Amino acid sequence: MDRLQTAIAEARAARDAILAGRVAAATDQEAPISRKVAPAASRTVEEAWAALPRFEPEAEHLADKRVVTRQGGARSAPFDVLRTRTLQQMKAQGWSRLAVTSPGPGCGKSTVTMNLAFSLARQTDIRTVVLDLDLRRPMLASILGLQARHEITAAIRGTAEPGAQMTRVGENLAFATTRTPVHDPAELLQGRRIGKLLERIEAQFAPDVIVFDLPPVMVSDDAIAFLPNADCALMIAAAEQSTLGQVDACEKELAQQTNVLGVVLNKCGHPGDYHHYGYGYAETA
Ligand SMILES: Nc1ncnc2c1ncn2[C@@H]1O[C@H](COP(=O)(O)OP(=O)(O)O)[C@@H](O)[C@H]1O
Ligand SMILES: [Mg+2]
Repeated sequence: MDRLQTAIAEARAARDAILAGRVAAATDQEAPISRKVAPAASRTVEEAWAALPRFEPEAEHLADKRVVTRQGGARSAPFDVLRTRTLQQMKAQGWSRLAVTSPGPGCGKSTVTMNLAFSLARQTDIRTVVLDLDLRRPMLASILGLQARHEITAAIRGTAEPGAQMTRVGENLAFATTRTPVHDPAELLQGRRIGKLLERIEAQFAPDVIVFDLPPVMVSDDAIAFLPNADCALMIAAAEQSTLGQVDACEKELAQQTNVLGVVLNKCGHPGDYHHYGYGYAETA
């Protein structure tokens, strides 16, 4: 943990100037990206949410997949802290689009995304939409236990309405999932089509937060292709799996593309109240 903190501090120092420039540029804009689309009237937004198919995940299935935040309590507490800090930073900047990524695969992006999503959903005054954009290894449907044959790729290509590929869990949380892996998704993740999809989701569902479960940064250019669409990012590093060099390189790469909110150290297995799922968080901004 100490060595990771040192690496984070070094990476932070190295890219402070870049980040300061990006934050200044973001705050200088007339409005954040996500506010450029006029939201629909609130009754229409409520109707759009009401029209989404509902799904109730099984508690045991979620627990098997290490999703522990559906209810509050000791196990969800660290994710609730992550949620609150993330929300505070995002609100302060007027940001709503949060990317979750990591240096390599298997660090826990999807697991953290789901825990963050259910923690956000316990705040009843905000709406959250989660998009599975790890198109080579989409996992969110499987983590939810969702059988629906939703394909977010159809919504990206514009051949289906966004709402037709989405599922609602509870009142204020929706997932756009996909099942069929795509072998070369970079062209789907960059450019106008994905931007248009995000604008449509924002206009129809008026989410306060959109979370993107992205591919890893150091394996392909998929995440980098998408990141200009995000306002900010969290990096998930896996202790005993992500090397310091990978964390450092990933953070530098992320900082070139977006605002890095922090690094979540997953699978750290440190002793203490939360050792069940080993979790730590370091702010980089
Ligand atoms: N804190 C943790 N401790 C132990 N296993 C974990 C932890 N977080 C995630 N996992 C497991 O690691 C595997 C990869 O996690 P996943 O979230 O799918 O990673 P990614 O989305 O980054 O590829 C899954 O089997 C998941 O259950
Ligand atoms: Mg994943």
